[in-house]
Amino acid sequence: MGHGTPDNMNWAGLLQKLLIVVHIRQIICSSLQFSVPEEMEPDTLVGSLSKNFSPPYQLLTHNYLRMDINKGNFYTTELKMDREAICPAETKAEECVTLYNAIVGPSKELIQFSVIIEDINDNAPHFENNKIHLGVPEDTTVGTSFLLDTQALDSDSGPNGEVQYHLKGSDGAFGLKIEEDSSLIMLVVQRALDRETRDLFQMQLVATDCGVDPLSVSAALIVTMTDVNDNCPAFSSDSPHSVTIPGDSQKNTVVTQVRATDPDLGPNGDIVYSFSPKVSERAKKLFSLDSLTGSISLTQDLESDNSEELVLKVLASGHHCPPADTQVTISVLPKANQELTIKIRFIAEHQNQTMVLQENQHPTALAVLELEGDSSFKDLFLAIEGEVPFTLSPQNGKYLLSTSKPLDYEMNREHHISVIARVKSAEGSVIVPSRRVVTVLVADINDNAPYFVQPHYELQVEENNQPGMSLLQISASDADSGDNGLVTYRLENYNPTMFSIDSVTGQLSLLVPLDREQQHVHRLTVFARDSGSPPLESMATVSIHVRDQNDNAPVFLTPHFIFFIPENVPTLSQVGRVEVKDPDKGENGTTELHVVNSSAPFVVDNTQGMLRTTRNLDRETEDRYELYLLASDHGQTVALTSTARVTIFVEDINDNQPKVILPSTNSSCLTVSPGTLAGATVGKIYAIDEDSGLNSEITYSATAPEPLQNSSPFQIDSRSGNITLSQQLLHEDLGMHHLFIVVRDGGKPVPLYTTVWMNLLVNDSTEPCHLDQVPTWTGTLNLVQTPSKAPICDVETARFSQLMLLIGLGMMLVSTCLFVATVICCLKQRSRSLKMNKGAYTEANEIPLKLKDKYYSD
Ligand SMILES: *[C@@H]1O[C@H](CO)[C@@H](O)[C@H](O)[C@H]1NC(C)=O
Ligand SMILES: *[C@@H]1O[C@H](CO)[C@@H](O)[C@H](O)[C@H]1NC(C)=O
Ligand SMILES: *[C@@H]1O[C@H](CO)[C@@H](O)[C@H](O)[C@H]1NC(C)=O
Ligand SMILES: *[C@@H]1O[C@H](CO)[C@@H](O)[C@H](O)[C@H]1NC(C)=O
Ligand SMILES: *[C@@H]1O[C@H](CO)[C@@H](O)[C@H](O)[C@H]1NC(C)=O
Ligand SMILES: *[C@@H]1O[C@H](CO)[C@@H](O)[C@H](O)[C@H]1NC(C)=O
Repeated sequence: MGHGTPDNMNWAGLLQKLLIVVHIRQIICSSLQFSVPEEMEPDTLVGSLSKNFSPPYQLLTHNYLRMDINKGNFYTTELKMDREAICPAETKAEECVTLYNAIVGPSKELIQFSVIIEDINDNAPHFENNKIHLGVPEDTTVGTSFLLDTQALDSDSGPNGEVQYHLKGSDGAFGLKIEEDSSLIMLVVQRALDRETRDLFQMQLVATDCGVDPLSVSAALIVTMTDVNDNCPAFSSDSPHSVTIPGDSQKNTVVTQVRATDPDLGPNGDIVYSFSPKVSERAKKLFSLDSLTGSISLTQDLESDNSEELVLKVLASGHHCPPADTQVTISVLPKANQELTIKIRFIAEHQNQTMVLQENQHPTALAVLELEGDSSFKDLFLAIEGEVPFTLSPQNGKYLLSTSKPLDYEMNREHHISVIARVKSAEGSVIVPSRRVVTVLVADINDNAPYFVQPHYELQVEENNQPGMSLLQISASDADSGDNGLVTYRLENYNPTMFSIDSVTGQLSLLVPLDREQQHVHRLTVFARDSGSPPLESMATVSIHVRDQNDNAPVFLTPHFIFFIPENVPTLSQVGRVEVKDPDKGENGTTELHVVNSSAPFVVDNTQGMLRTTRNLDRETEDRYELYLLASDHGQTVALTSTARVTIFVEDINDNQPKVILPSTNSSCLTVSPGTLAGATVGKIYAIDEDSGLNSEITYSATAPEPLQNSSPFQIDSRSGNITLSQQLLHEDLGMHHLFIVVRDGGKPVPLYTTVWMNLLVNDSTEPCHLDQVPTWTGTLNLVQTPSKAPICDVETARFSQLMLLIGLGMMLVSTCLFVATVICCLKQRSRSLKMNKGAYTEANEIPLKLKDKYYSD
């Protein structure tokens, strides 16, 4: 498509039309108005386009608003709207309007809407100048106003930006007047001012805006009163009115001084004194007046023999003031014809008019004074000048000088008593025609004990100190003088080899190293004594605390601990207490024990100082342990240690039952020749026990079939286990004998035991003995206590009950067969013993050999 074609023209016209429509639309839509207060939080809803347009909605500028594309709601953003920043020019009530463009609707229409940013009172007024100095003349008339060269501005608009002023701290002396356009602030004087009453007002000029929550600011307003000469001199009430002077007063003697005051400042307060023109010529000739100081003095020697009265009228004038006046009457006394003298007759001892008195004495009379001279002075009397501890009491025209209270040397060593003659005149004025000075020296007596400023000294010394160390200087002062105040020091209640004090300087020193473990605090008493007579003494105490050093290693109660512990005790059983002591203090004396260098099953329980086992002990494996303990303290720099040896013997307990070695099994069997001689050893039981002592002492006893001692031909030696033939074997003894042997150890309280069968075959045959079946024990298990009451063996043909029955039946036949049986028995016994004796001699040597074979072949 080229330029200038009709098609092209059509497109351009369409576009133009569209723009016009858009423009119109824009104008219509700009009536769409929203408003939002400034400084709103982000995401505050400002308004919505959804009522007017359909979605989607798209904002073209994103400065302060963000649009919800689908809902048409728009919100504030992180960037806060500050009305004062957006519309800086519009300080007053005009609206701050911002315009926004948006594209809305499916057809993407361009619209415009406005958002009015409403003012909030977020700015306080502020003064351009927050300290205002103003000088106001004190004579300013009420109602006068002064322009204050300041103004408060508030950048908010409307009432929020309107400023009102008020004054604080004026105490009603000042008010404010604001000119119409608010830009001029006037300070109005509301009350008469007086610099002499108050020369400074520190006020605050407060500016407050008119917002709903008003904000305010204040500026300091300092008003100083400037002085105007509004006061005139006035004579003070203590200005003298009358003076008496002696007739022989010298030239330049200052007679008196008048005084007037003017409270004004600087030159306004200057006073000039002058004589009134009404003063007599003689007075003017005799007296001069210092115009600045107001002192009146004699212009010439007054050689007057007559009494005379001169009246001086003095004026005090200030600038622009009518002069104030006062009147001074000067009475001139006639010149004395004769010198007045004060005669002194000393009572107390004196030298060169000087008396020496001891301190602390009761009031004493010192001297009698008398006034001698012209008797025309009727009203003369003697008096002491100043405050001294002396009195002068008149007595018959004389005066007695005495002390008024005990003198104190320490307060004042020398008193000069100035005695003067005074005149009682109507106005109480004084002339001094004569004066005598009496000197009293005070002699010290020892009335002050030495005084310790610090009555108790406290110090710390580390032990093991250097000998000869100085500790501290003790000092006591004595207010007395000379020997009375000479202090010497000494110690009491102390060990002279340990401490010493320099009697003159009070330097306390330590002669030997201290040992805290011996004594941790030393208390000394120091006496300070002066050298008066009698001497006075006072006391101070010194506490010396010895600080610890880690100078003691731990010490075991014994260098070698020996403990016994039974075997088989549970783990962590107590073996024994391993006590260790360290006399040092705190950590330096806190000890900890370890088992060193040992795999022995022991550990130290440091909380109790107890040695404990760490596993089960078996005496049969190891019956004795040796180990070393290391004790170390917790000294900070160096820990001190010591060791102790520990030997632990494991005591046996009866934990092993005897083990039978011979016979080797329950089915072992021995053949005994019937011809064996009584007393011959036919066999042996041998057992061992791994325990020690009594626990391994073995005894043997046989229990079956009946107590061997009575009927069995065999008996067992309980110690050796030898089985011997107790009697010659009879014919009925042929066959198998089962002996139930209990092998017991000597354990207390309950011995352990093993049982074994000893089988003996009595037969001639040389064939090896053979046992088909091991016999079984049917008795109770109470074998240990009562072996002799053993029950009957299973393999025996006759049981005990059956035997009893047979005995019962036999008893019925006893009475009838008693004689016959006795005769037959006697005959049989005799024939058998003869037969057996013959065989025993032949076979006695062979049986032990057979026995041997039997034992060792099994
Ligand atoms: C006494 O006083 C005079 C004059 O003050 C002096 O010269 C003299 O030494 C004094 N005598 C004694 C003993 O103090
Ligand atoms: C322990 O001894 C050290 C010096 O050996 C000392 O510095 C420390 O103060 C002592 N500790 C205590 C608690 O006395
Ligand atoms: C520690 O063991 C070593 C070697 O095993 C030995 O030389 C030393 O004497 C042992 N020390 C103690 C205290 O038993
Ligand atoms: C036990 O018998 C053996 C020989 O068999 C003998 O040497 C020993 O002395 C006997 N012991 C006792 C206590 O009779
Ligand atoms: C003795 O032994 C022989 C041969 O072994 C046997 O025949 C005989 O019965 C036995 N005598 C007794 C009383 O057991
Ligand atoms: C032998 O017999 C006794 C009693 O029946 C039994 O307690 C023991 O254990 C037996 N000994 C052997 C080695 O079999």
